[in-house]
Amino acid sequence: MPRLTPVLSAFEDEKIHLLSQASNDLNLSFVIDAHQAQRLLVKLHASIIRNDGGGVLFGPSWEQLTENDDLDDNVARPWWLDRRQQLLEVTRTESSAYVYNLNTVSQSAIGLKQLSSINRILYAVKANMNADVIAELAAHGIDFDCVSPGEVGHLLRLLPDLNRDRILFTPNFAPRSEFEWAIEQGLQLTLDSLYPLQMWPQLFEGSKLFIRLDPGKGRGHHEHVKTAGIYSKFGVPLFEMDELQQLASAANATIIGLHAHTGSGILDPDNWNAVAEKLAQVARRFPEVKVLDLGGGIGVPERAGDDAFDLAHFDTLLSNFRNRHPQFELWIEPGRFLVAQAGVLLSKVSQIKGKGDLKYIGIGTGMNSLIRPALYGAYHEIVNLSRIGEPATETVTVVGPICESGDKLGSDRLFPQTSEGDVILIDNVGAYGRVMASQYNSRKVAPEIVI
Ligand code: LLP
Repeated sequence: MPRLTPVLSAFEDEKIHLLSQASNDLNLSFVIDAHQAQRLLVKLHASIIRNDGGGVLFGPSWEQLTENDDLDDNVARPWWLDRRQQLLEVTRTESSAYVYNLNTVSQSAIGLKQLSSINRILYAVKANMNADVIAELAAHGIDFDCVSPGEVGHLLRLLPDLNRDRILFTPNFAPRSEFEWAIEQGLQLTLDSLYPLQMWPQLFEGSKLFIRLDPGKGRGHHEHVKTAGIYSKFGVPLFEMDELQQLASAANATIIGLHAHTGSGILDPDNWNAVAEKLAQVARRFPEVKVLDLGGGIGVPERAGDDAFDLAHFDTLLSNFRNRHPQFELWIEPGRFLVAQAGVLLSKVSQIKGKGDLKYIGIGTGMNSLIRPALYGAYHEIVNLSRIGEPATETVTVVGPICESGDKLGSDRLFPQTSEGDVILIDNVGAYGRVMASQYNSRKVAPEIVI
């Protein structure tokens, strides 16, 4: 029974049609939609079996045993398998490094640009601020979502000729001075609460505004990244719409766009359809609204064997939405989807330590370069790049050099026999990796290299 909590959280994004518990207390059955089954199976397998010493009890996983078999067309072969030599070369000069593959960035951009339902894609700059990555996205005609003057400044330093109308500014709990600055700069502004209209209405006289709404239900890979609902600080709640109408008209501001971002790392395409319907409902009160911005949040596969996000289904749902509501443009603001899979973090093995049944493999950088595992319990595939193809014979925990017990990059991973100096690769770190790094313990953050 104590193991049920992680099991139940695997179902939080799903519609459960039926739940039954057998009287012997051993079988718990969930009836869900068939197309969600494979993804859930992988998730449940990971939380019930792998996280609990699965490696020792069950041996290598099916994916590991059949690493080179193309079992499922929807499961992509990671790019770094074909660039192994080049990556090993990088570690001759750098003991740790973030490496980004621009080709992968480009493929993700092309995938999104092909969606027929979406009028405009704004890259959420916060996910990865690397100059080449940003230039690549701009070259694909992708625009930008910035949340601070610092992000806008960085973007304009990299792309001085970028037209200001390619930037959407969506700050949260920002001081008055930032609104004054954004208006001066001629940026399209999104208000995230009524406060600016209540307290500084004169700033918005004659402005055309986007309003970020809280559609009521947050989603995402972790509590910290759910950005809607009463326990989230974001967005104007739907019960404040009367007041919004009054304040906007008193300030002589026009609401031309409605925005919502429910969270990050969401794999169910219906999320954006539900958000679009909610925004369209609110838009009935605001006849000048032309744009519904559905936010970012599109998830990427995390574990070997996970399915990719179903972009085609996403496009169908939103195309149907547009047929029902042809008066609106649809915008999205993806961060992770565009850059996560393009990045890997490389680092060399520093030391190995055994403690009873546990074996720790230490590498040159840790939570100072990549905080996601410590902060969200995020899962990143970790492989020994020096020994690809060698049999995985031991279960290890990969740790960094930071003075905190939370400095673990991955626990209970099946690894081949590993030695000092081997190059370890952490996958899927192109989003929210380097940008969230710190100088903690005065240890250098892994530098960025673009290939
Ligand atoms: N738009 C807004 C208003 C946002 O706040 C965010 C992300 C995005 C778009 C892009 O979301 P994405 O497509 O990347 O999911 N540090 C966390 C993720 C925090 C996301 C914050 N807001 C992580 O490492 O998972």
